[in-house]
Amino acid sequence: MSRFDLQDQRNHPRNSTPALTALIDRALSRRRFLGVGATAGAASFLTLNPLSHAVAAAANSPLLGFNAISASGEDTLRLPQGYRWEVLVSWGDPLFAGAPAFSESERSEAAQSRQFGDNNDGMSFFPLAADRALLAINNEYTNQEYLLPAGKVTSLADVRADQAAHGVSIIEIALKDGRWQRVLDSRYTRRITANTPMQLSGPAAGHALLQTQADPSGRAVLGTFNNCANGETPWGTYLTCEENFNGYFGSQDPALALSAAQKRYGIAAVDAGFGWHAFDARFDLAKEPNEANRHGWVVEIDPRDPQAVAKKRTALGRFKHENAALHINSDGRVVVYLGDDERGEHLYKFVSAQRFDKNNPQANRDLLDDGTLYVAQFSAKNGEIRGEGRWLPLLHGHNGLTAANGFADQASVLIHARLAATVVGATTMDRPEWVAVHPSGQQAFCTLTNNKNRGTEGQPVGGPNPRAANHYGQILRWAPAGGDHASETFSWDLFLMAGNPSVHPGTAYAGTANIDADNMFNSPDGIGFDAAGRLWIQTDGDYSNQGDFAGMGNNQMLCADPNSGEVRRFLTGPIACEITGLAFSPDHTAMFVGIQHPGEEKAPSHFPHGGMPRSSVVVITREDGGIIGA
Ligand code: FEO
Ligand code: CA
Ligand code: CA
Repeated sequence: MSRFDLQDQRNHPRNSTPALTALIDRALSRRRFLGVGATAGAASFLTLNPLSHAVAAAANSPLLGFNAISASGEDTLRLPQGYRWEVLVSWGDPLFAGAPAFSESERSEAAQSRQFGDNNDGMSFFPLAADRALLAINNEYTNQEYLLPAGKVTSLADVRADQAAHGVSIIEIALKDGRWQRVLDSRYTRRITANTPMQLSGPAAGHALLQTQADPSGRAVLGTFNNCANGETPWGTYLTCEENFNGYFGSQDPALALSAAQKRYGIAAVDAGFGWHAFDARFDLAKEPNEANRHGWVVEIDPRDPQAVAKKRTALGRFKHENAALHINSDGRVVVYLGDDERGEHLYKFVSAQRFDKNNPQANRDLLDDGTLYVAQFSAKNGEIRGEGRWLPLLHGHNGLTAANGFADQASVLIHARLAATVVGATTMDRPEWVAVHPSGQQAFCTLTNNKNRGTEGQPVGGPNPRAANHYGQILRWAPAGGDHASETFSWDLFLMAGNPSVHPGTAYAGTANIDADNMFNSPDGIGFDAAGRLWIQTDGDYSNQGDFAGMGNNQMLCADPNSGEVRRFLTGPIACEITGLAFSPDHTAMFVGIQHPGEEKAPSHFPHGGMPRSSVVVITREDGGIIGA
């Protein structure tokens, strides 16, 4: 269990599904659900268009042109026959001239801020020319057991080195001799860390809740950290999403009084183990109680302008952001789907007030500052894992979001979006991770990675969260009414439920009919579509290969045909890694994949270079130069 899970378990008082949804959920008894699954297991995933009927998992999908590989416990990266991989960049690689080479024993802020950050996560590809591009890559967090000599911070210098390994790395790559390689000393190269000055923008900027002693303006914030997954905009900017920000704040006073809002966000005197607050007053809740309100946002970065100041877009709400899946609606409005990754939290979307204008790039620059944030409420009937849903606007003065209920203004609604979501009746979810919109624009998909607490603590079983003690996860999809992503209604179903058909045959924990002993996995997390509509699925799950997880091996990447439901394993990662981060070259002959935290907690990995294990981005190509997956 990660340090973030441990902190959630310790600190977060559970929110509950409100009465209306609970009533719906109660109708979905586990017995009835299992009845459906037992008699028509295939009833759980549906063809792409329309969301209507069940089909069996068809083999030989025309979209999937590779042979599936077996599960693996090996300390390497494995791919189907005809594919190859190489490392593009690893934690600690120098990014600038004169930056020191990676060292297993020495760490400093000066070195780390000029090297590739740790724990690469979401990333986006920004073309510069046919053979040149930028990769913007999140560096989510650090493994202090490797980063720091003592395995933890013991000084302010350690904290600064740790902070410098967080954030975002922007690197240039070029196609040379048929291979995508790093370009050193590019004028675009940039490290954004936990101490990089940036701005708060949008409706909450300047609000009293965002003001600190160091920044009475409430608009000038230092840094971004726990940058999980990502998004990109058609106006050429990168979106980096702040996830478990709470874990960096703490107090020397174990009896520190906490507000209901702090508790809901998992903020507590005991941090997630980073130890920053002991040496850096900014992270001490007793000294700067509002600093934590300045994190938990989506941050927009212009990767092509190293001087551009990053902006935290408060209109997209504050929670544990996973990714930001942006879609230009048919009417030109910008829709951004957003997951809040914690057990029992919610799924959101933002709809811009203004329209995207591809002929006027400057006019698009602040589209994400003005719009409406919504949260999802699901309904279903008769124990089915499909149904209808509504997007409930989070607007001050509406649906109980009033001063009497603790929301003084719209900024308060956005800063405390989780609390607002509960007031309006949002459905508690099994940890929403990435959202991806199918290239046709017809449907959006979201991984619900797992939720061991489902069925307890006010999180009833049912609807899109149909299994108690859900260790396996599922992939939800929805189609907006009339194909309009700005619509307030949608239809949904589950594209798949992960499971273990060897350990739990004949039950809901075997997973849906498209899961078998050859492709089983747990905890879907990163997802993305390629241009042809293949759904790539990355896992961040239990890699013990034992018990409920026997036969699943290390974390992995799979590829699914959203039409037939077929799922094939494409990649297996090294020991104790998670697979996260996905990008393609425009011609789809190269795929960039993130291998995060191999060997975490001193598990026996030496990926990829021997010696200390290092998070890395790898490039995957075909030996025949063909399109990945085809
Ligand atoms: Fe950083 Fe929810 O994964
Ligand atoms: Ca994730
Ligand atoms: Ca995860």
